[in-house]
Parts: sequence; structure tokens; C-alpha cells
Amino acid sequence: MKLRTMVQMMGGAAAPAYLAAMRLMTPVHRVAWLAAASKHGVLELLRAGPRELGEIAEALDAPPESIEALRTWMRHGVLLDELHDDGHRYRLHGRLARHMADPAHPELAALAESLISVHVAGIYGALDHLRDGRPFASLDAPVVARVSEMTAPVMREVIDAHVPKHGPARLLELGCGSGRHLRYACERNPELEALGIELDPAIVTSTRRALGKAALADRARVRQGDLRTLELDERFDVVTMFNLVYYFPVAERGAVIAKAASWVKDGGALLIVTACRGGTLANNMMDLWFSGIREAGPLPEPEALVQQLRDAGLEPEAPARMLPGEAYYALVARRQSSQPT
Ligand SMILES: C[S@@+](CC[C@H](N)C(=O)[O-])C[C@H]1O[C@@H](n2cnc3c(N)ncnc32)[C@H](O)[C@@H]1O
Repeated sequence: MKLRTMVQMMGGAAAPAYLAAMRLMTPVHRVAWLAAASKHGVLELLRAGPRELGEIAEALDAPPESIEALRTWMRHGVLLDELHDDGHRYRLHGRLARHMADPAHPELAALAESLISVHVAGIYGALDHLRDGRPFASLDAPVVARVSEMTAPVMREVIDAHVPKHGPARLLELGCGSGRHLRYACERNPELEALGIELDPAIVTSTRRALGKAALADRARVRQGDLRTLELDERFDVVTMFNLVYYFPVAERGAVIAKAASWVKDGGALLIVTACRGGTLANNMMDLWFSGIREAGPLPEPEALVQQLRDAGLEPEAPARMLPGEAYYALVARRQSSQPT
């Protein structure tokens, strides 16, 4: 190649920008490849041990005519250094591939999948939707529920502070997702009884199965339904709305919070943990996506939540920022004990 051709290929005076743009290729391909490998079970398969191409095709149920394309796709994993190919079999090699395949860290794979299906789709598609005035399609609820597990330590801190550790008590988790928090609270207090409400029937089935496996089915029940239309005669010591507020349009939030508050017994508390407007790229991405879904809405402002909690007859404390540098808040609001007459 002539030097002049090379210089032209590199953009001439714009060479540094060309190089910077080309360097974006590897991280984009890496996350797309890992997300697909996670979604289709390739990481899980290789975690069990090295596999030949034919075994991978069989596990994927791929027809014989797809084998060459599959080989090329596997080569992409090798080029990214996430796989090793000894000429016969593939094995996991890269740090990300190995950790994402590890069932101890399911939220890592969920994050890779959401970077592609939520973040990339959301940022790239936002202006199409905005210009057409079309709302975004609904979120990939199972992936979002899996990613939200990354914030679980914050919920554990809030549960530790506000859910009784000893003695009989009742907990209601609205939008309970995988039931991880119900499980944590019930294992912490053997006399706690918990109820989870979850809209998505598939999540309800897997959550009930997980609670059953943990021998908690008798103390931690899950009901399928939309909390907005739910009829519940019971009252609870603690009601939680963890990572849930933005699933409702702004105009409905006051009524949703009032309904949640109506299930708090005298002396009990409503706990809200939520991403709020502002913060980092991750938060702003959520704000962008939820703002564009007709049946949901933008991330809330903490002050608006405080007012809605007050309007619901509760006594809110000042919002507490739970992650340094991030607009991720916990709000605690109590229902006063009735005075004895
Ligand atoms: C982001 S996940 C949070 C799960 C869990 N609370 C956590 O913090 O890990 C929100 C969950 O709320 C559920 N959800 C959304 N709208 C709901 C509604 N109207 N009634 C009940 N559940 C709802 C979603 O299906 C989803 O599983």
C-alpha cells in the first residue's frame, strides 16, 4: 500500500478522530457478542466445559446450513479474546465471558443484554420516536428485572433499617420482581410474613418457584396483578415500592402512592427506593427510556414524592441519597399511630 493511500484511509488530518472512531468497534462488538452469548445459553454451555462447534450448534438447535455462519460468529468471540479455540473445541477465556457465565453474578449478563436491548436501542431510536411522536415499545421486563438486581444491596440496607428483625410482622412488596427482597427479609426474620404483588405472570411463576425452593412458600406469597386495581383487606407493618415509581405515568403517581399508603397500618411505614431525575449516564438512560413509554413516565423528582407521601396522609422523612454521585434515593414515610381514645 502506498503511503498516500494509507494516509487517505486514515482520514488525513482527521486521523486522530478516525482512530478514536475505530477504537469504538471493539467495546461495541464485545458487549453485543457477550449479550447474545448470554441470551442464547452459549456462555452457560461453555461454563460446563469446552465444546466442539457441532455440540454448540446442537445446543442452539441450529440447522446444518447455519453451521458456517455459527463458526464465524464463534470466531468473533475468539477475536474479542472472550473465547479460546484450540482447533477442535471452544472454551471461555476472557474475564467478562467467564464472570458472566458464573451463576453467582446473573446481573452481569443481564447488564450486557440490557446495554444492547435497552441502552443502544433506546439511545439510537429515541429521535425516531420523538420525531414521529411515537412512544417507545414496552420494556423488556424480564431483562430490566434482572438488571435491577444490581441495586439489591441498597434494598438490603433499607430493609435492615426498617423491617423488624424479630417478632411477628407483615411486609408487602409492590412490584416484587424476582422476590429477592422478600426472601432476604423473611430469612432475616423467621416470624415475618410477606406478600409480593407482581404484574408479569411469567415473573410470578418463576418467583413462586424460587420462594418454594427456599422453603418460604408458606410465609412469602406472591399475587399476580396490577397494584392499581388490586383489592387488599390486609394492612402491613411495612409496604415497599422498590424500583417501581417510574412504571406509572406522572399523572397516576399520586393515586398509586395513596393506594400503597392505604395498606400501611398505624405506626407502619412506606419505603420507596427509586432512581430520580439527574445523576449519571445509567440513570439518564432510564429516564430517557421510561419517558418514552406511554404507560410509564420520567424518573421522579424526590421533592414530588415527598409531597405525594404527605398528600397520602403519611409523615415523610427527608429523601436519603443511597449511592454516591447517583440520583438514587430512599424515602421513608410513616403513618402515625392512632391515639388511644
Ligand atoms: C424494576 S422491577 C423491580 C423489582 C424489585 N422490586 C426490585 O427492586 O428488584 C419492577 C417490577 O414491578 C413490576 N410492575 C410494574 N408495574 C406494576 C404494577 N402496576 N403492578 C404490579 N407490579 C408491577 C414489573 O413487572 C417488575 O417486575
